[in-house]
Amino acid sequence: MNRLDVKDLKTYFFLDEGVVKAVDGVDLAVGDQETIGIIGESGCGKSVMSMSIMRLVQQPGEVVKGTAVLRRKDGSQVDIFALEPNAAELRAIRGGEIAMIFQEPMTAFSPVYTIGRQIGEMVELHTDLRGKKVREHVIGLLNRVGISNPAQRHDEYPHQLSGGMRQRAMIAMALSCSPKIILADEPTTALDVTIQAQILDLMRELQRADGMSLVYITHNMAVIAETVERVYVMYLGQVVETTTTARLFANPLHPYTLRLMRSIPKPGQKVDKLEVIKGTVPTPIDMPRQCGFASRCPSAIAGLCDKSMPALTEKEEGHFVRCFLYSDKTEPEDEWTNI
Ligand SMILES: Nc1ncnc2c1ncn2[C@@H]1O[C@H](COP(=O)(O)OP(=O)(O)O)[C@@H](O)[C@H]1O
Ligand SMILES: [Mg+2]
Repeated sequence: MNRLDVKDLKTYFFLDEGVVKAVDGVDLAVGDQETIGIIGESGCGKSVMSMSIMRLVQQPGEVVKGTAVLRRKDGSQVDIFALEPNAAELRAIRGGEIAMIFQEPMTAFSPVYTIGRQIGEMVELHTDLRGKKVREHVIGLLNRVGISNPAQRHDEYPHQLSGGMRQRAMIAMALSCSPKIILADEPTTALDVTIQAQILDLMRELQRADGMSLVYITHNMAVIAETVERVYVMYLGQVVETTTTARLFANPLHPYTLRLMRSIPKPGQKVDKLEVIKGTVPTPIDMPRQCGFASRCPSAIAGLCDKSMPALTEKEEGHFVRCFLYSDKTEPEDEWTNI
């Protein structure tokens, strides 16, 4: 059984201008100790999906449909979406079972408390450690994520650390309660390239050492290639292709995936020669029922792709794609289709 099984997740924002279908029917499976990647351009629903799993989506946003069955450390199963918003169980899951790492650590840390105090609070919330033992534990964690002078850093404020160090501190916070799943939402995007590589290495090392599952969210296809075993390509709130990383790179099927592949820089290639995807991601407000990529797709079939929504279908074993070039199956309608 998987560590986490998300089925048919729909997270909508109900605005005066209309309904934003930010996540619109996503299935996501996270195996034990597996590394998976979620890739897609800005605005395709990656963050809303991870916030949904953590039950952190706020009004006017709402998870309107779906299940997220988590297998906890003790082996018991729970549907995260079935829990009450303030349930103690939900607080135990956040941090204790699934921890999240954000793009910008300044938003995760409060500026007015020391790093050590903030990580220590998490430790006290989820373990029986108290007093000096908490401090020792936190210093050990800071040391583990490669922060030098951890005892001194423990007593510093977030602004006293460099961007890379703050990101390491956030990883320490995520590890503080020994979660089984790390949800990393563009954790290196704000960092420069060498620091990015160091943080990626660190995350992979910790993931292996602690036997965690890693869900790595990024808009950068190059990072996916060397980081994860299996990939979900997202576009406009839906998964448009999913398979193993090896197979995705060897045989990308969806026209959107092909374009993402061509945006990866190759050695010696000038950056301004990189292919840019034509058009911009539409805002998914009151979207017509069609393939979301139709308006930007070079292979779009008029009267088909702009008139109906393709279903995610299995092209080869374990390789799914949502595109009329491969199957004429359409996405079945449900009670949320016409709102
Ligand atoms: N609080 C919000 N209110 C309204 N719309 C939102 C809100 N948060 C996200 N969205 C919309 O949901 C969609 C998905 O956003 P997001 O998950 O942040 O994308 P990504 O992380 O892939 O860049 C976007 O169209 C965005 O405008
Ligand atoms: Mg995001």
